[in-house]
Amino acid sequence: MKDAAPQPTLLADYTPYPFRIGGVDLTFRLAPKSTRVIARIDFAPNPDRPGRHDLRLHGEGLKLMSAKIDGRKVKPARDAEGLTVAAAALPEGAFTWEAEVEIAPARNTALEGLYMSNGMYCTQCEAEGFRKITFYPDRPDVMAPFRVRIESDLPVLLSNGNPVAQGEGWAEWHDPWPKPSYLFALVAGDLAAVSDSFTTRSGREVALNIWVRAGDEDRCAYAMDSLKRAMKWDEDVYGREYDLDVFNIVAVDDFNMGAMENKGLNIFNSRLVLASPETATDGDFERIESVIAHEYFHNWTGNRITCRDWFQLCLKEGLTVFRDQQFSAHMRSAAVKRIEDVLTLRARQFREDMGPLAHPVRPDRYIEINNFYTATVYEKGAEVIRMLKLLVGDEGYRKALDLYFERHDGQAATIEDWLKVFEDATGRDLAQFNRWYTDAGTPRLSVRETWQDGTYTLTFAQHTPPTPGQDEKPPRVIPIAVGLINPNGDEVVPTTLLEMTEAEQSFRFEGLASRPVPSILRGFSAPVVLERQADAAERAFLLAHDTDPFNRWEAGRALARDVLTGLIAEERAPAGEYVEALGRMLTDEGLDPAFRALCLRLPSEDDLAQALHDAGLTPDPDRIHAGREGLATQIARQLQKPLAAIFAQMETPPPYRPDAGPAGRRALRLACLGLLNRTDHGTRAAALFAQADNMTESAAALACLIDGGRGAREIGAFYERWQGNRLVIDKWFALQVAHAAPEMAAQVAARLSEHPDFEWKNPNRFRALLGALAANHAGFHHISGAAYRFYVDWLIRLDPVNPQTTARMTTAFETWTRYDGDRKSMIRAELERLAATPELSRDSFEMVSRILGADG
Ligand code: PHE
Ligand code: ZN
Repeated sequence: MKDAAPQPTLLADYTPYPFRIGGVDLTFRLAPKSTRVIARIDFAPNPDRPGRHDLRLHGEGLKLMSAKIDGRKVKPARDAEGLTVAAAALPEGAFTWEAEVEIAPARNTALEGLYMSNGMYCTQCEAEGFRKITFYPDRPDVMAPFRVRIESDLPVLLSNGNPVAQGEGWAEWHDPWPKPSYLFALVAGDLAAVSDSFTTRSGREVALNIWVRAGDEDRCAYAMDSLKRAMKWDEDVYGREYDLDVFNIVAVDDFNMGAMENKGLNIFNSRLVLASPETATDGDFERIESVIAHEYFHNWTGNRITCRDWFQLCLKEGLTVFRDQQFSAHMRSAAVKRIEDVLTLRARQFREDMGPLAHPVRPDRYIEINNFYTATVYEKGAEVIRMLKLLVGDEGYRKALDLYFERHDGQAATIEDWLKVFEDATGRDLAQFNRWYTDAGTPRLSVRETWQDGTYTLTFAQHTPPTPGQDEKPPRVIPIAVGLINPNGDEVVPTTLLEMTEAEQSFRFEGLASRPVPSILRGFSAPVVLERQADAAERAFLLAHDTDPFNRWEAGRALARDVLTGLIAEERAPAGEYVEALGRMLTDEGLDPAFRALCLRLPSEDDLAQALHDAGLTPDPDRIHAGREGLATQIARQLQKPLAAIFAQMETPPPYRPDAGPAGRRALRLACLGLLNRTDHGTRAAALFAQADNMTESAAALACLIDGGRGAREIGAFYERWQGNRLVIDKWFALQVAHAAPEMAAQVAARLSEHPDFEWKNPNRFRALLGALAANHAGFHHISGAAYRFYVDWLIRLDPVNPQTTARMTTAFETWTRYDGDRKSMIRAELERLAATPELSRDSFEMVSRILGADG
């Protein structure tokens, strides 16, 4: 792609489409290698774009069999991205476009457009996949009602909306709600349904179906239950009711992403639907609950109100992630959920924001939009809404959302529309707040404290480091939730929201009897890095006394991080105070077991690499690994007794239940096991593996055995038992690579890549192996460079087959500039090799250029 570098699309270039669509009629005659798609589309001039305009339709890889306008044959001008009918050849006013195209779903390995997965037809149209199905203005601001007729011998034929009629070999669907093409979906297959129903609060009866392959019906119960709870919650909390007679969910094995919110016909990666105690872990159940809810919530935030253009992606994704986070917090423990969300944010979004791929929550340019389904758009997008809610209060938030739905229902909206709704509903000026959408980078917040005559003053300074294409960053509004605690442990100032708007700003607290200990950024009230040095004693104090559960956990986390970075950088680790404090948490029966489990989890090696880099040091992956292992072993030795006691005490009685209560007990028990495993020669893990009746314990026990360099027999037994269950075999691949010793990781991955079950064209399987290698920090960055080479070999192989998944997986290298010269030059050579691949996809080209710093 060297000679014809793809051109970026710019937010500044937006113009409305010159036509509106009154209705779309589609007929599909399905056949694996020659599907016919017949489209009839009613166009009318768009009054927002006066004058006469060419008819421009997107279309890629389509064989055009015939095209007509108002019944007369036309010969449009074709190019690689679509076709054009000159304005002069168009009737004045409204007209009907008809086209018949041929496509080959069986040859579609990119899994975008209409494709096949195990004999089943399915579609994925977001962001720009509909143009691989038929010629169309494939942009989200063109919304239309769709009628769909599917002709096929397969027994189950589904599309969006409500079923209209069906007979031998055909079915018709009608979606009355105008929608953009990216929400179109079609499924045809030999599928079985698990059915239920939901009565909305206004009394509408909705049929619910989860469609799976025969034999998988007994693994749908949790997804169905989650769906019903999500439907009820959206009525109760947001006043949003479902709006069709049916809600269908289909599970497919080959899917690039997690799931997709197509109107009335959500399509899911099967790993986010299918679960039983024997095959899915507690983490899987939790993910299923949140993603089922997420996709359902899109019905209002995404579908009824959609995005004007793809730069506004966070309008639907940030909001919908925020809503699913709220939902999970209500279903489970809010404190634990918040900690988990912040862990993910830091691991994925902060990592992204600090490297060459940093971009604003609302980007203003892209080459390939598929590359912007990122942690920044999703997770930081959700944090921005969380801050907005803090600033305007719960009531203001609810008023603004009611106004948003009232004002923009049926529209394709922008971030400006979204902020205007908040301004109109609450009277607040959000001009400065808007910087959270337009400016990339994670702000750093430093704090100075003074204490004099009963007055305690906190002075904050904010600074955001430059990111690609953005050097100057004006100060942002930062909501800082603060509480103050007396040295005796009493809270003297309960949580107070400070609004920082300046580069540097002071806040005073008067009339205090003694100098307090501050608890800053409670609940992680803003996605910033708090740069505050504190000694171990103060952190231990907050770990014991903070009333804010997030900051309690954060204090322990900071203690662990300080100990570990000291150990890694200077080979000394005064860990005593930390381990003692940890011991007190561990045995505090007043604390939720899930919370205690989170406290036991040490920062990951990647987190530590980031922390060292932040401190101006060059992270050495071997020393990080050794340091972290060393501290874990020290904890295991020093806390051996309580760990063993809790391991025994936290056993959950059968039957297995996936709810937060028992899942939290298992999490604590298995965290204890992970530590005990360092000194007990694998005896507990082997026993647990032998007796476990659920995947949570089996997988954790197997991971422990592999960590200890054991488990060959158990690896074999696990495979024998689960051969044929794709989702469990994914785990089998991932566990072996993720837990391989650093010097072995590339070799283990290479050996497994030759296994007959390594179906590399399946994205889940590819990620199970290669994703696990990238997640094995010390293994991936082993100084031999073997893992880098192996990884890039596979990216080069996957790119022509599936560009989207290849491009996503290049992010394994997004932190490459952190490392030492030897590693950097090896990575650079590999990235350059990837960049030089002939015919490299636009997706991967953009990613590699940005990672290399050439900017896309
Ligand atoms: N819109 C989907 C979601 O977040 C994600 C997705 C994007 C799926 C692109 C497929 C393709 O719910
Ligand atoms: Zn989404």
